[in-house]
Amino acid sequence: MTSDQAPLVIAVDGPAAAGKGTLSRRLAGHYGLNHLDTGLTYRATAKALMDRGLPLDDETVAARTARNLDLSGLDRSVLSAHEIGEAASKVAVMPQVRQALVEAQRAFAKAPSGAVLDGRDIGTVVCPEATIKFYVTASPAVRAKRRFDEITGNGGSADLAAIQADIEKRDARDTERADSPLRPAADAHLLDTTEMGIEAAFEAARRLVDAALEH
Ligand code: C5P
Repeated sequence: MTSDQAPLVIAVDGPAAAGKGTLSRRLAGHYGLNHLDTGLTYRATAKALMDRGLPLDDETVAARTARNLDLSGLDRSVLSAHEIGEAASKVAVMPQVRQALVEAQRAFAKAPSGAVLDGRDIGTVVCPEATIKFYVTASPAVRAKRRFDEITGNGGSADLAAIQADIEKRDARDTERADSPLRPAADAHLLDTTEMGIEAAFEAARRLVDAALEH
């Protein structure tokens, strides 16, 4: 709790595979907060469309699907496929889809027990009043290697160069879109995990959150 008893809300943004999911889970566990990986809301919307054979470029249909999404049923293990991430970044350019999902994300952030939300626009759009904001990044090569290790570590096969090319393509789509592009909030703390391990990033973030809670 902050001194005025407002619930603790931590915003974590950054590009794909920068380590924001792991960092957010660690922060949520440490401070006893609910956690929402908002990327899953875009992924679930895209998967629902794909499962029903619906087009990914019809904004009205995609927004209706987004409005009907149940946040309690989101499961990264069924949404982690690379093609779903690609499809998610396509529906994520649509303002009506964003509006529906941002509304659900804001409702989640209002939990009296506080919350950690991670995504691309949490500090800038979803929770501009968050207690503290982080922007987690790393070089594309390091992010690609992490994703590669994750896939091969789970017994899958992957092509490192192709993963890096996809990551760069997704970065471009996320940073260049007109509605809520990926960018650090002016008051975000920058955490570059290129050289730093996730554990060191967590320690740095924890110190900054503790300092914010003392004020
Ligand atoms: O983080 P993740 O890779 O699961 O996100 C999938 C896609 O969803 C991103 O590439 C981005 O286009 C979109 N997204 C977004 N805003 C968020 C979270 C994710 O536009 N807050």
